[in-house]
Amino acid sequence: MAEKQKLEEQLLSPDYLESDEWKLIKNVEDYSKDRLNTVAHGFDHTQRVFQNSLIIGLTEHADLLTLLTAALLHDVGRDIEIAIGADHADASAHEAKDFLKSVNFPAPKIKRVFEAIHGHRSSREGDQGFLESRILSDADKIDSLGAIGIARVFTFGGKINRDVQETITYFKKRLDKVMEQLHTDRGKRMAEERYNYCIDYLKRIENERTNIK
Ligand SMILES: [Fe+2]
Ligand SMILES: [Fe+2]
Repeated sequence: MAEKQKLEEQLLSPDYLESDEWKLIKNVEDYSKDRLNTVAHGFDHTQRVFQNSLIIGLTEHADLLTLLTAALLHDVGRDIEIAIGADHADASAHEAKDFLKSVNFPAPKIKRVFEAIHGHRSSREGDQGFLESRILSDADKIDSLGAIGIARVFTFGGKINRDVQETITYFKKRLDKVMEQLHTDRGKRMAEERYNYCIDYLKRIENERTNIK
């Protein structure tokens, strides 16, 4: 993803891009790329969550190693959820812990990465007690808004046999909930424009239905 690299070069100093910390993050990225292949929650989604996390993380002075590692691994357990119905946040957190231990990732940070991933689902706001965890949750939710959010909701809807109308109904309900669950000021700012776009889109659908010419 050339745009992603451009953004990284724009936001991060040349020293940081040469650092051991950044090499560790890139190593995690390679693992994540191999592991993620589900529709609507694949590697492209993770790349966007990574970007959103980076933007919010720099504004909020987060620990980038913890945050970006958690972003890269937050959905690796999706296929386990699909296969056996296990909670993917739980499955992803455990898989992340095992992988990070195997590559000698700094031990104190593994615990933080585990907790951030474990708490990233909307149903678990109670777990989102620290900064990196709150940012990951926002970064993930932002990807369910805007033009990309609309594309994802229909892709996922099709996958689980939800028809167009059912997907629209689901999306309407989900939009306000997502906005209520945002934590950081930067995340809220990023989300707002995308939210407004979705509202306009839903109005347009209503218009097409009712305005017969
Ligand atoms: Fe997730
Ligand atoms: Fe996600």
